[in-house]
Amino acid sequence: MSSREYRNAPIRPRVAIINQKGGVGKTTTAVNMSAYLASLGYKTLLIDADAQANSSISYGLDTNELDGTFYDFLISGTPLRSIVKNTMIQQLDIIPSNDNLYAADLDLAQLDDSKSFDILFRKLEDCGREYDFTIIDSPPHLGPLTLNIMRAADALIVPLKADFLALQGLAILYKTFLRVKKSLHQKLCLLGILITMYTQSQNICRDVENDLKNTFGKLIFDNKIPQNVTVAESPSFRRPVMLHGPKSPGAQKYKDFTLEFLRKIYGAIENEQ
Ligand SMILES: Nc1ncnc2c1ncn2[C@@H]1O[C@H](COP(=O)(O)OP(=O)(O)O)[C@@H](O)[C@H]1O
Ligand SMILES: [Mg+2]
Repeated sequence: MSSREYRNAPIRPRVAIINQKGGVGKTTTAVNMSAYLASLGYKTLLIDADAQANSSISYGLDTNELDGTFYDFLISGTPLRSIVKNTMIQQLDIIPSNDNLYAADLDLAQLDDSKSFDILFRKLEDCGREYDFTIIDSPPHLGPLTLNIMRAADALIVPLKADFLALQGLAILYKTFLRVKKSLHQKLCLLGILITMYTQSQNICRDVENDLKNTFGKLIFDNKIPQNVTVAESPSFRRPVMLHGPKSPGAQKYKDFTLEFLRKIYGAIENEQ
């Protein structure tokens, strides 16, 4: 399948990068796969849905100087077009955040039960599917905002740091995914689990990888993201690793992963039809 064929696929998916644990590589994955998708010619929107605003900062935005944020879109009804910012990558736009998003969980919890989980879905649907891909960087907890993100997404990617406690959180996340799928969103697809910050020489990394493969089989992406200093330092240069160090092992793997993602999501969409 060529990239061009995929572009004719009937839906333009929204993909949430999700894990209630912090520090597992959600933002790094969202920032870098968005950059590669855009560089491959896909019109891409990155939604920074974390109050820590790490995706926004990684793209050089000053979070104290924003005209509007994801919070304004979600809660106050501000139109998308007045919030979206261009990035230094031609086909990539971003909806930024700042710390006002910390209020969102409380605001959402105060809405009627019937509305509180699908407000983001409805708002994004109302905007139409203008972008080939929408990538959502999620917060590190499983509150109302994260449930809204799961409801609004077509597919989930779970980054997982290859360490001792990795599998524990995954069981809870998987249960939540099954509940959301059953009660809110039957078509939600768990596209795959991405192993991040992998160090080949560490036994613990290999053990975690083997455990994951035994439990989740094909859900594990073939490409694992290595622990890599160029990936880690890119945000401080306010750009994705594709621009900061395109030849680094981390950049190469994020590129390979993005291509694997394209193959996988294309298959997932076909299976849904
Ligand atoms: N492949 C990697 N190699 C080295 N450092 C990484 C890598 N991926 C992420 N990091 C670093 O690990 C920390 C947590 O990553 P981040 O993407 O912010 O996680 P999350 O969004 O899940 O909290 C950040 O400091 C980030 O720069
Ligand atoms: Mg993050």
